[in-house]
Amino acid sequence: MSDMNDALATLRQEEGTRQRIQDQIARIFAPEDDALRNALVSAKQAGLPEIQISPIQGKFLQLMAAACNARKILEIGALGGYSGIWLARALPAGGRLITLEINPTHAEVVRNSFARAGLSDRTEVRVGKALDLLPQLESEAPFDLVFIDADKQPYPQYLEWALRLIRPGSIIVADNCIRGGRGFGDPMDEGSVGVFEYNQRIASDPRLVSLDLAMDDNFTDGFAISVVKG
Ligand code: SAH
Ligand code: DHB
Ligand code: MG
Repeated sequence: MSDMNDALATLRQEEGTRQRIQDQIARIFAPEDDALRNALVSAKQAGLPEIQISPIQGKFLQLMAAACNARKILEIGALGGYSGIWLARALPAGGRLITLEINPTHAEVVRNSFARAGLSDRTEVRVGKALDLLPQLESEAPFDLVFIDADKQPYPQYLEWALRLIRPGSIIVADNCIRGGRGFGDPMDEGSVGVFEYNQRIASDPRLVSLDLAMDDNFTDGFAISVVKG
């Protein structure tokens, strides 16, 4: 019994350590400013679900944007504009973020938050079902960075579109690709079928170099990152 209590105490301690280290990383590398905090408050007030990326994930997206010299970014799934603010801020002058959002209420929150962040000049929110909007983007391609974070079931189709809209050297990032192991069919459930298929495809597509990276302190979920080979 006391062995078990010791083991539990050790586990809690390790959990606390991971949390503390992640907080330190976030504080040093990914501090939020008023615009980011306001976007979260507006989203909450409008009743949007709190399923945005973390500050560390936001900074990671900026890192990816810098790595591929992104001037044109496509986001699928805007929610309240939190990830969009991180992405748009990674753009150089004259750069552009197009974000696709099916819910008009969400889109309105996004536009307001972009405006308050001073990013209206370089951002555009398009309202509709992503699979209906993506074909219209072919004339605006190539995109340097694509961030996929909408409904999970069509992830393989979003990947197909991303591959049509990018250039060699572009980067494709997709959120929620680990899902507590369900992203690898472990166990498989309805919502994870699309993510499972997405992981299979990016892992084996000869055009891509890909990896899933955990982005939380207990390894339960994270990004899939794919670089398009030259
Ligand atoms: N990227 C956001 C979180 C996105 S949550 C952030 O980190 O801040 C997923 C969003 O995708 C929701 O706003 C939802 O309305 C939208 N969405 C769901 N299905 C969609 C579809 N088929 N086409 C476009 N947007 C969709
Ligand atoms: C959900 C969607 C997301 O994109 C996410 O990061 C977390 C949760 C959801 O639909 O529940
Ligand atoms: Mg997500």
